[in-house]
Amino acid sequence: MEKIYIFDTTLRDGEQAPGASMTIDQKYEFALQLARLGVDIIEAGFPVSSPHQFEACRLIAQNVKGPVIAGLARAVEKDIDAVHDAIKAAETTRLHTFIATSPIHMEYKLKMTPDQVVENAVKAVSYARNKFAQIEFSPEDGTRSNLEFLYRIIEAVIDAGASVINIPDTVGYTMPDEIGHFISSIKNNVPNIDKAIISIHCHNDLGMAVANTLSALKNGARQAEVSMNGIGERAGNAALEELVMSLNVRKDLHQIETNIDAKQLYYTSKMLSTIIASPIPRNKPIVGANAFSHESGIHQHGMLSHRETYEIMTPESVGREASEIVLGRHSGLHGFTKRVKELGIALSDEQISNAFKVFLSLADRKKEVFDEDILQIAGSVLGTESKFYTLDYFNVTSGNAAIPTATVRIKVDDEAHEEAATGDGSVSAIFHAIDKATGVKGKLEEYHVNAITSGKQAIGEVSLNVSINGTSFSGKGSSTDVLKASARAYISALNRYKLAAENGGLKNES
Ligand code: KIV
Ligand code: ZN
Repeated sequence: MEKIYIFDTTLRDGEQAPGASMTIDQKYEFALQLARLGVDIIEAGFPVSSPHQFEACRLIAQNVKGPVIAGLARAVEKDIDAVHDAIKAAETTRLHTFIATSPIHMEYKLKMTPDQVVENAVKAVSYARNKFAQIEFSPEDGTRSNLEFLYRIIEAVIDAGASVINIPDTVGYTMPDEIGHFISSIKNNVPNIDKAIISIHCHNDLGMAVANTLSALKNGARQAEVSMNGIGERAGNAALEELVMSLNVRKDLHQIETNIDAKQLYYTSKMLSTIIASPIPRNKPIVGANAFSHESGIHQHGMLSHRETYEIMTPESVGREASEIVLGRHSGLHGFTKRVKELGIALSDEQISNAFKVFLSLADRKKEVFDEDILQIAGSVLGTESKFYTLDYFNVTSGNAAIPTATVRIKVDDEAHEEAATGDGSVSAIFHAIDKATGVKGKLEEYHVNAITSGKQAIGEVSLNVSINGTSFSGKGSSTDVLKASARAYISALNRYKLAAENGGLKNES
C-alpha cells in the first residue's frame, strides 16, 4: 500500500463556486471539521483577494492543528506576502503559487512570452523560498500546455525551491488515459522530479474529475486536490468523498491509502451543504439521499438475502448509521451533549446550548428525535449565516376566499423593520413582505421542499434560489412549519447576497 496526500480545496476553489461564499466563522468551523476528517493539507483561501479571505486564513492558520495550512498566490510578491502574513502562525505553512502555462493563457490572458512566464515563476518561488515550510507550484491550465515547456518550467521551479508540483486540469478538458500519460511523461522527463511530489487538480466539466484523478495517481501522482461535495469553479473539482471511497472500496486494484477517516464523510458533507445552503442531489454518490436506498423489488430481495448482492460498501462505512430513536422531550442537556459527541460533532459550549434550545423545541413537537434530526440541528447551529437580516416574527392570513397577506418583522443591523404585503399564495406574500422590510428586491427562481427527517412532525427543509441584481443566491431553512422554513430560507439567501457583496474583490484572476 502506498500513502497519498489529500489536499482539500473546499475553502479556496470550492468557495469560488457561485453561491458558495462562507463567513469567516463558517470557514473556520469547516476547517476544524476537515482536520477531524483527516485531510493532510487545507487550502484556506486566497488572502490577497479580500480582507475577509485574509482574516479567514489567519484564523484557520492560528487555530487549526494537524493539517498543513496552504494559501494561494499568483506568482507576484504582493500575493506571496499576503499569504505569508495570513498563515505564518500555522504549525506547517505551504505557499501555493501559480502562473498559466498554456499557449492560449500566456498569449491572451498574461500577454507574456514563455520565457517571461518561466522567469516570473522562478522569481516567485525564489522570493518565497525562506518564508514557508513548503512551496507548491501550479502551471495553470497545465493539461493544455506544451509538455516540453512544462518539463522546462517544472525543472526550473524545483531548482528554485518548489517541493510540490501540481498539475491542474483547469478547464476539465482531459480524459483519463491522456492525463495518466501526461503525469508519467512528467515523471520520466523532468530530471529533478524526484525532489518533488507530483499533485493532481482536476475540474469536472466533462464529469471526469475523479476518474482523471485516479488515473494520475496510478501514473505517479502522490497528492490529490479535491473538495467536499465536489464544489469548485463551474462544474466543480474532484469530490473528496468519491475519490476516497473509490480508493477504499477498490484497494485491491489501486493499492493506495489515505489518512481520511471515512466515517466522518457523511457529516462533513452535510455540514458543508448546510453552511453554503446548497442541497446535495439525491443521486450523488456516497452522500446523496438515494446512495444507499434500494427501491426495486428485485434489488430489495437480493439485499435481504445477502447485502453484497447490491451493496459495494456499507452506509456505516461513510458515517451513515441506520437511523435510530435516541432522544425525546425528557432528555436533558447531558444526554443531548453525549449523543452529539458520539456522532462526531464538535460544538463549543455556546453552540451546544443554542443547539439544545432548538432540540427542546423540536422534541416538544416531535416525540421521537432521530440522529438525523441531531445532525440537522448541529449543522444549522454551525452553519448560522452572517446575520445582516434576522427574522423576528411573521404572520400570515390566507384562505380559499381571501388574498394571502403576510406581515413580517425583520431586524436589519439590530433595527426592526415591519412590513406587510400580499401575494399569490402564503409563501409569496411572505417573500414580498421580506423584500419590503429589507429593501432588497429578490426574484424567486427555484423553490423545493423536502422532508429531511422521519416521523409525522418531520423537519421540512426549504431550499431556494433567489436572483438579486442578476446574480443567483441559494438559501436554505428548516423547521417543522413549512412557512417558517420558507421565510428562513429566503432570508438566508438575502444574507448570502450581503455576504457576497462584503466578500467581493479579486478571485484568482491572473
Ligand atoms: O484550476 C486551477 O487551475 C486552479 C489553480 C489555481 C491551481 O485552481
Ligand atoms: Zn481549480
